[in-house]
Amino acid sequence: MKKLLIMSGKKCGALARETAEVMGTPFYQIHSRDFPDGEIYVRIPADVAGVDVALFSCMGGNPNRGLLEALLAAYALKENGARNVILAAPYLPYARQDASFKPGEPVSIRLVAKLLEDAVSGIVTVDMHLHRFHDIKDVFGGIAAVNVSAMPLLARYVSSRYGRMPVVAPDDEAEQWARRAAETIGSEYYVLEKERRGDEDVEIRGRGVNANRALIVDDIISTGGTIEGAARLLRERGVEEVYVACTHALLVGDAEAKIFNSGVRDLISTNTVPNPYARVSVAEAVARGLSEIRREK
Ligand code: R5P
Repeated sequence: MKKLLIMSGKKCGALARETAEVMGTPFYQIHSRDFPDGEIYVRIPADVAGVDVALFSCMGGNPNRGLLEALLAAYALKENGARNVILAAPYLPYARQDASFKPGEPVSIRLVAKLLEDAVSGIVTVDMHLHRFHDIKDVFGGIAAVNVSAMPLLARYVSSRYGRMPVVAPDDEAEQWARRAAETIGSEYYVLEKERRGDEDVEIRGRGVNANRALIVDDIISTGGTIEGAARLLRERGVEEVYVACTHALLVGDAEAKIFNSGVRDLISTNTVPNPYARVSVAEAVARGLSEIRREK
């Protein structure tokens, strides 16, 4: 197999470095900064002629900057002779706009996929928000694409710390995560119902769970409204200890306050988005995804 280098954009250094250690491959930090007018400057720090490069980009928090930085870096890598550029985008933004919900809306993830397919020859994501598209290969038809899951890692972490407990999906989109987490720790799972009325206005309904402890899982926590609603419902239905695990903790605005004020005992996330609750690393899972893509090539 050809030599692999791992390079990282501005925010993904720690995860990329850890993945490089797992894979026993060199790591380089890409030079990147913002010009005074907001444009992005990027420079590749090593000779990449003829080698494969895994380009890491943690796009949570500032998805538009992350995307453009990744596109510029991928373009520079190709211009400088890289043989294959594989994007490791642990959190891939725009995946929730996977349909035109109202007339006039774009299916944003389609455009994002098109841009990335032009720029790289493979992509690895972690718990991509696959809802209306069931498989990452339905989104990225033109390049090698692998989606790995952090749910088994999160479920194992929580159960080893707090014991085995039922898993709860706050909405039907999260059923896949709850099923996977529950299978991992051998417990049952429940699915609540969510009505979203606006970006920060959700209502969670359902019968709750007949247990003293429960683990709510989701792929993304953005404003925290979904978890707040689910946690309040479980607490009202008599669940004494509510734990939360998510892959991508975006934690926008007062999300943390909402979550903990609703009675959540602990919040555990992965490091796909740098955040204070990142206690589970996806480095080994991403390394496996990269190896799978390289075997396909
Ligand atoms: C959407 O279905 C996602 O899986 C999450 O449930 C959603 O993004 C959470 O958003 P928020 O934290 O703003 O409620």
